[in-house]
Amino acid sequence: MLFSKPALDAIEALTPSQVDFLKVLPKAELHAHLNGSIPLPVLQQLAKEYVPSGTDSDSTLLVIKSGIEKLQDGVTFDEIHDFFNLFPAIYALTSTKEALARVASAVLAEFLGLKEEEECPQATYLELRSTPRKTIAMTRLEYVETVLDEVEKYRPDQAVLIVSLDRRMSKEVADECVEAAISLKKRGRRIVGVDLCGDPTAGDMEHFTSHFVAVKAAGLGITLHVAETTENSPEDTLKLLSFKPDRLGHATFLNDEAQGVVIRERMAIEICLTSNLLCKTVSDLETHHIRYYLKKNHPVAICTDDILPFRTNLLGEYAMLLAPAPCGLGLSEDEVERIAAMGHGSRFRINT
Ligand code: IMP
Ligand code: ZN
Repeated sequence: MLFSKPALDAIEALTPSQVDFLKVLPKAELHAHLNGSIPLPVLQQLAKEYVPSGTDSDSTLLVIKSGIEKLQDGVTFDEIHDFFNLFPAIYALTSTKEALARVASAVLAEFLGLKEEEECPQATYLELRSTPRKTIAMTRLEYVETVLDEVEKYRPDQAVLIVSLDRRMSKEVADECVEAAISLKKRGRRIVGVDLCGDPTAGDMEHFTSHFVAVKAAGLGITLHVAETTENSPEDTLKLLSFKPDRLGHATFLNDEAQGVVIRERMAIEICLTSNLLCKTVSDLETHHIRYYLKKNHPVAICTDDILPFRTNLLGEYAMLLAPAPCGLGLSEDEVERIAAMGHGSRFRINT
């Protein structure tokens, strides 16, 4: 595994016995985006096999080529859009049912499968999330069914699916995604929640109100990317919190009022350390907001976000808890064990 600097520095600062402790610690992954978690060799293989369709322009091929090159070389993120600009290349390669099933299978195996010489998988439980995408080869409903078919090859206590809405979605598209999530759950398929993600600087959150009312009424969990950048206004954040989410992604820039709501309602925070450091929304671990929540004994879940561009895994993220400063928080093994348990405690329930 090729790690980016924050995770690599932390792992290298640990003793072999600390690494072994982290490897066998049962870890829950609650915040992993499917198309951001594809193993690079799988994506490279899809690029090799890619046959341009009649509607593909030369620019699609160029987008794929430069996207793969960036991912191979290691991406640097000078601003948040450098991250979102990676996805057109990935999406061009995962637009058929076959390719989508292949990447879903590979991502599930990456988190839950046993690697050579390892006794434990990276995660013992995975809530995978993905945004239903309509392509010339599939409807949004078919997209979700295709991913679910792979998720359901694992036991229910190992793998479940969260349907993501994107802040840039029109009301009609969001309607379609929510309807797909609710109808599939009603049919007994393994969907446990709905997420809101996408470019944090885009969209009007007011327009998602009715969607999250329906999601809650259907008994699905809610997790929202919130206050990810300084550009997210307090109004944007408070509107999202009014949807009564169970969990929050990032929650980096909450003002006192928002923080009060989060603490009072015990909304668990999905913490993605490498993602925050590489996207430069947090400058170092010394000032990371995880410290505030740990001090308050508020539930957090340690997650990876997008292991493809961020070059990390759960071992790397947990290493950053255990390693001494400045490359880690310098916590004890007991404290890290307690944090891992909080991750499991924040899982969405499968209620029928
Ligand atoms: P997908 O939903 O499986 O297609 O996964 C990739 C998508 O997840 C991206 O296009 C983004 O919309 C979203 N995403 C991944 N990471 C982040 C993040 O940190 N913030 C907001 N959205 C994200
Ligand atoms: Zn995310």
